[in-house]
Amino acid sequence: MTVSQNLKARRDAAVANGVATRGIYAARAENAELWDADGKRFIDFAAGIAVNNTGHRHPKVMEAVSKQAEAFTHTCFHVAPYESYVALAERLNDATPGDFRKKTMMVTTGAEAVENAVKMARAYTGRSGVIAFSGAFHGRTLMGMALCGKVTPYKKSFGAMPPEVMHAPFPNEFHGITVEQSLAALDNILKSSLDPERVAAIIIEPVQGEGGFNIAQPEFLRALRKVCDEHRIVLIADEVQAGIARTGKLFAFEHAGVAADLVTMAKGLAGGFPLSAVTGRAEIVDAAPVGGIGGTYAGNPLAVAAASAVLDVIEEEDLCTRATEIGGAIKARLTDIAARHGMEAIGDVRGLGAMIAFELVTDRTTNNPDPALTQVIVAEAEARGLIILPCGTRANAVRLLPPLTTPAPILEEALDILEASIEAAVNATAVAAE
Ligand SMILES: Cc1ncc(COP(=O)(O)O)c(C=O)c1O
Repeated sequence: MTVSQNLKARRDAAVANGVATRGIYAARAENAELWDADGKRFIDFAAGIAVNNTGHRHPKVMEAVSKQAEAFTHTCFHVAPYESYVALAERLNDATPGDFRKKTMMVTTGAEAVENAVKMARAYTGRSGVIAFSGAFHGRTLMGMALCGKVTPYKKSFGAMPPEVMHAPFPNEFHGITVEQSLAALDNILKSSLDPERVAAIIIEPVQGEGGFNIAQPEFLRALRKVCDEHRIVLIADEVQAGIARTGKLFAFEHAGVAADLVTMAKGLAGGFPLSAVTGRAEIVDAAPVGGIGGTYAGNPLAVAAASAVLDVIEEEDLCTRATEIGGAIKARLTDIAARHGMEAIGDVRGLGAMIAFELVTDRTTNNPDPALTQVIVAEAEARGLIILPCGTRANAVRLLPPLTTPAPILEEALDILEASIEAAVNATAVAAE
């Protein structure tokens, strides 16, 4: 039995089943590489699910955290606040899109940021309804899961959802949903199901993460801005996965040239330390009563120090530009793979910056999803030493989230592994079908 197999047996006996896990038990990691408990090396194109945008253990991040650990690790911001939290809030207020006065609050996870954004929107508008989109993922808390636009596994078995949460279709040209159709469906919700005067917020991922890296077209985001302005609805940009330089801009909404009222961020923000934030219009953020938002660990000093270093690294290493370059190289290779191997299986290659996915289909005429092939590609890549993740409402997309600090030779090596994995998976499933 290998060390990893032994760990899996212990994990199966001791850890909740509902917590999904892969078979890679991490022992150490550095930038874009990870070694498992048996010493096997992997290139990590999951980056802890879009967390390690600055790579594993970036030296500047580690140094900032160590320095903070020498001073104090926790006081609780509600009890004994600290300058670093205030300074990070100032920085996020400046960095998020929108030329208006902003304020920030920090929590720990992406789901918590979403919960708090909804609470602020409700307090500000005095309304309770929220509109999200099909395929959306906003977290696993009660409101978070209600906002998710995918039933299995996020909502299955968990009972009634909070009322007045509705979903409009996310525009998805590949699956035949145009921007116009999506906007018409939203209009229909506001006319037939939910009085706009009861809608506190519309929440959208500018690029859907778990839903399959579907990109909200700039004109769609601009149209949502208009709808929100017309009905005094708070527009929330969930940048938890797409934010922090991943799409080639610090925030993905920047591609649309409009600003949301509130921005939720987490994941890449603190380079591997748990931190999330809500930044937005001061009057909306301040609508929550004193003591109504926050938490014991919210804005933990070590994570705040890490986040400040992450933002420095993004600037110093020009990681927004690097995201665009990396994404361009990946897209070019995937398009080339599909063309060179005459692959019917790759239906779509899409992405913004270094947030790239390809969608597997049974054939290019029907574009019917092929989740089985997706699983085989992920497994083939893992066997060859590349960690990639599946995603998509129909579980038929592979997403690539390389650290933005991935050195060029490692990127090339990863793309070679990816190509071999796709080829092997397509051949294996073709043989199995004969
Ligand atoms: C867009 C988006 N929102 C919210 C979340 C929830 O974040 P967390 O898992 O940290 O609660 C995620 C996590 O994947 C996400 O991608």
